[in-house]
Amino acid sequence: MTSPLAGTEKPFLKALGGAAQPRPPFWLMRQAGRYLPEYRETRRQAGSFLDLCRKPDLACEVTLQPLRRYGMDAAILFSDILIVPWALGQHLEFAEGEGPKLDPIRDAAGLARLDMDGLHAKAQPVYETVANIRAALDQDFRQTALIGFAGSPWTVACYMVEGGGSKEYQHVKRWAFGDPEGFGRLIDIVTDATVAYLSAQVRAGAEVVQLFDSWAGALPAAGFDRWSIEPTRHIVQELKKLHPGLPVIGFPRQAGLNLERYVERTGVDAVSLDPSVPLEWAASRLQPRLCVQGNLDPVLLLTGGKAMEEAVGAILGAFRNGPFIFNLGHGIIKETPPEHVSRLAEMIRGGR
Ligand code: CP3
Repeated sequence: MTSPLAGTEKPFLKALGGAAQPRPPFWLMRQAGRYLPEYRETRRQAGSFLDLCRKPDLACEVTLQPLRRYGMDAAILFSDILIVPWALGQHLEFAEGEGPKLDPIRDAAGLARLDMDGLHAKAQPVYETVANIRAALDQDFRQTALIGFAGSPWTVACYMVEGGGSKEYQHVKRWAFGDPEGFGRLIDIVTDATVAYLSAQVRAGAEVVQLFDSWAGALPAAGFDRWSIEPTRHIVQELKKLHPGLPVIGFPRQAGLNLERYVERTGVDAVSLDPSVPLEWAASRLQPRLCVQGNLDPVLLLTGGKAMEEAVGAILGAFRNGPFIFNLGHGIIKETPPEHVSRLAEMIRGGR
């Protein structure tokens, strides 16, 4: 695996370029967040979670907080995947303790309310945050790479159509199955918006982008090809045209046996694995083709102690001979003791 990135400095980018690193680079999904007291304090100052996302100085500050404690090899822009629907004009709020609430879009009339022309103006604070973070990294964390991100169209559409989180995803799946052409128009809008949004993040200073497809596992195999793989492939292709050599990480959560097709067809440079993916299988079937990232169960990080240490040891052992980025298999849980993250970082650095 040779890549134009092979000679670059930052270990995180070298791993993405296909080179095994002496010790794996690491970062943690949701590394900025409520498990850190300093995050809770900054969030309080901001007012609400959405306000925090829209205040570039404060969003930059919370992005840097985990780096100061743990020295991760990558910073991830502090924002949310639901900024895209919001920037397209859909009403969004985060009710305290209840998660996101949107005005559901379920038909052509709903689609007509979306406004692509307003996207960049509304998302401007996010681009400013990216530029601030990049300047801070260049100053104080020179070996740390900056990850921009967006949700994958399928996962973003799940929230747009359901109007929030859901157990069964009945509305979005019924639209996708019953009227693929109409639903395809929503996916196309989100796909185009995502390319524009991520490209602007790269212009502002993001060095890598990750696509979160958290609800990929809700789709049957044929739907997975059409609504997860296909839009992802298109986004990767368009981004690489605009930004040659840009590394893209895909996270098709709970994709199971669809993972190999996802890797073959989307063109991602790395695949992020959820905790259900068997280590030996991923090491033999995926890692020879591309960098893998993952996949500690966030509840093991919450648990800590011997259970966590054994699981971390197994992951480090399984992926040691190829390109690998250590991460969780999903976001940090807010009750996680910060000391457990210290112990994890020490193990990854070879302290055992
Ligand atoms: O990883 C990071 O540190 C970067 C920031 C980030 C957030 N959300 C901040 C956040 C990222 C990359 C996301 C992605 C995201 N957001 C996903 C994909 C990953 C995943 O978790 O599956 C999804 C599905 C969302 C949508 C979302 N945002 C939900 C469902 C919720 C509510 C659940 C919860 O944990 O409260 C959020 C809120 C959210 N996004 C918080 C944070 C730090 C908590 C908000 C708070 O501070 O109160």
